[in-house]
Amino acid sequence: MVSVAMALSDGFGDFAGRTWLNTAHQGAMPLAAVRAGQEAIGWKANPAELTAKRFIEVPQRVRAVLARLVNAATDEIVLGNSASYGLHLLAHAYPWADGDEVLVMAGDFPSDILPWLLAEQRFGVRVRRISPRRNVVSVDEATAAMTSRTRLLCVPWVHSFSGAVTDIDAVGEVCRDRGVALVVNGSQALGARPFDASTTLVDALIGVGFKWLCGPYGTGFAWFHPALRGRLRRVKAYWLSQLSQADLARDDLTVEMPADRRPDEYDIFGTANFANYVPWAVALEHVLDVGVERIMGHDLALDNRLADGLREAGLPPDGPYGSPLVFFSHPDRAANDRVHAELAAAGVDVASRAGRLRASPHLYNTAADIDRLLAVVRG
Ligand SMILES: Cc1ncc(COP(=O)(O)O)c(C=O)c1O
Repeated sequence: MVSVAMALSDGFGDFAGRTWLNTAHQGAMPLAAVRAGQEAIGWKANPAELTAKRFIEVPQRVRAVLARLVNAATDEIVLGNSASYGLHLLAHAYPWADGDEVLVMAGDFPSDILPWLLAEQRFGVRVRRISPRRNVVSVDEATAAMTSRTRLLCVPWVHSFSGAVTDIDAVGEVCRDRGVALVVNGSQALGARPFDASTTLVDALIGVGFKWLCGPYGTGFAWFHPALRGRLRRVKAYWLSQLSQADLARDDLTVEMPADRRPDEYDIFGTANFANYVPWAVALEHVLDVGVERIMGHDLALDNRLADGLREAGLPPDGPYGSPLVFFSHPDRAANDRVHAELAAAGVDVASRAGRLRASPHLYNTAADIDRLLAVVRG
């Protein structure tokens, strides 16, 4: 249990003396989660440890904590291994009709575009790209792009290549008015910003587990509004979702699901993925114990300290304030590679994206980490 008196960085490693300011690429895992993962890997050295109880409880635990994270019912959570899993699932399971349109954002992270392009090839869907004037789609741009054939709009909550934040409440309102499903990729915000599925006008929320949620790589989930989920086609027939232990050897198998459809019917295969899901559950519980609101306040304070310092150092941040991602650039853009290399050589890890530098501090970072970055760029 995390105590309020503890610093947010307590419970994480020492990063071998480096300063990790690249959560937008990979979040760091709490040490308790690392230990839990090591223990779970150890179960496989003695397979008797892989009990039937653990097969059931591990995915259940992840599903329950994700439901708490987004304030949804546990059976509305779909377990996955990426953002792409949830988006592909939706692209294949949506009940498309010929001529249906999907709107995406030009310049978005590819995971938000490619599944719909596949649906275009497979199901006769038409994908149209909105080119936003200011990095993310505004309400006016979304409204102007919609036609009577538009069924779905897919946008990032926070854009990976600019840090711009979509006003999902406002865009959600226009989508609801027009009967368009709003699909949001929250990978760059979940864990750093609160999300409430019971009040936000979003129909599907997709997220990775390995950035701001501090889980291992190869984790992700989706939440579908029950009204959307109820319309989806089945796209998998998985023995573990469909059969009980007693049914396994039946010779009259059918693909029919039991009448009481199971919460795991859309999950990725093999969710008793002990080595990944055990530490992920612990990492998620850590994030929730600290509290997402508290983490947001902490992260924003670091973002502001960084933005102010960068401006003073003559490398003004060009991203919007209030984003978990802070983009900045040397006045001579060609020098950004050198700045990136100098930061890395000085032990400070940021990302280089779209010709600019991107810092993304999170709960394990401190003001001293920001000052270490600033000392390098001042030099
Ligand atoms: C917005 C966004 N979505 C998704 C991903 C990753 O996608 P996936 O989990 O499908 O590999 C990233 C970055 O890695 C991202 O920035």
